[in-house]
Amino acid sequence: MLYKHILKPIFFHFDPEYVHDQMTAKGVFFGKHALTRSLIGVAYDYNGPDISKTVDGIRYRTPFLLSAGFDYNGQLSQILPHIGLGGEEVGSVTARACEGNPKPRLTRLPKSKSILVNKGLRNDGVDKIIRRLKEARSQQLEAGQAPSSKLPAPEFVVGISIARTNDAQSVPIEAGIADYVYSYKRLNEENVGDYYTLNISCPNAFGAEAFNQPELLRRLLTEIKKIPSKKPLYVKMPINIPWPQFESLLKIIDEFGLNGVVIGNLNKDYGSLDFRGEAPAVFQGGLSGKPCTHLSTDLIYKTRERFGKRFTVIGVGGVMSPETAMEKFNAGADLVQLITGMIFEGPGLIKKLCAAVAGR
Ligand SMILES: Cc1cc2nc3c(=O)[nH]c(=O)nc-3n(C[C@H](O)[C@H](O)[C@H](O)COP(=O)(O)O)c2cc1C
Repeated sequence: MLYKHILKPIFFHFDPEYVHDQMTAKGVFFGKHALTRSLIGVAYDYNGPDISKTVDGIRYRTPFLLSAGFDYNGQLSQILPHIGLGGEEVGSVTARACEGNPKPRLTRLPKSKSILVNKGLRNDGVDKIIRRLKEARSQQLEAGQAPSSKLPAPEFVVGISIARTNDAQSVPIEAGIADYVYSYKRLNEENVGDYYTLNISCPNAFGAEAFNQPELLRRLLTEIKKIPSKKPLYVKMPINIPWPQFESLLKIIDEFGLNGVVIGNLNKDYGSLDFRGEAPAVFQGGLSGKPCTHLSTDLIYKTRERFGKRFTVIGVGGVMSPETAMEKFNAGADLVQLITGMIFEGPGLIKKLCAAVAGR
């Protein structure tokens, strides 16, 4: 109520990136203090029947995660466990820091329940983010927020999405592969992150989505698999490519023995907006929210139908309500991620999603 009727109308008057930065700063502050963590927990945490789930050996307290792109610099892992989330995907991180594309990087499309995202992989770079996450994890352990590291899995799961640096230097294929490999290697060396996702589907970045081409994905995975790792590895899939190409990518992911896929990224079909008129005349980037709902759910379903239980499937795209979350599970998703639903409906949405799973 507070969010939807008071805070959201105020927030929606301001530039989305400014609001995001302000919210992140508040989240960092709230996460630092036991009192504010408890107060947020009283309002937003899920305390119903056990809905925990173990996926690829990792225990998730709830099957809902914040999707990649919101906490892109890994600053919120202390507060997010208190709003009913079982984990988050930090990033996408890149080998070198990225400024992002020129502004506007985010445009709200409220009638269409979507955000036009043209962020261009803005982030502090993998090394700085590793240092930040290590510090946060040790503070959590000290404060008793997470169980001892001797336990097989942490209470709040931090996955890390890896993309290639958005600059001209990483455009040649060999350089692009080296860029992914650098981040993946550093994360594994430092033992930071509970699982990793290779983001091959970011729109409007230098070098485009080259690794959506099956043979280039094969080359990327050949190099990635040379790095020793004990963590689950997923690929973040595009949702606008034809099924035969999608299936070819899945076959390669299967061949290399990866754990699964995140389905999927932003919708690049601008014709799919409910209200075309509220969008800028010239599009750049991809659409989140409602325009992703059915495209991603259909691909989750097709992936399960074609590959059975071979893959872990993390479903994401247009989860705006308990119904749309349950559709993702019913289509075969093991876990569900979201961003836009939380921005439009408020953090209270997560508790409702958890209650829907508990009542299933
Ligand atoms: C502001 C914003 C930034 C995003 N940045 C990334 C990113 O860096 N890496 C990535 O894999 N996906 C990114 N995404 C895509 C989301 O992770 C997700 O796949 C997509 O938004 C669909 O989910 P939603 O409808 O719940 O928002 C971003 C989405 C938004 C809204």
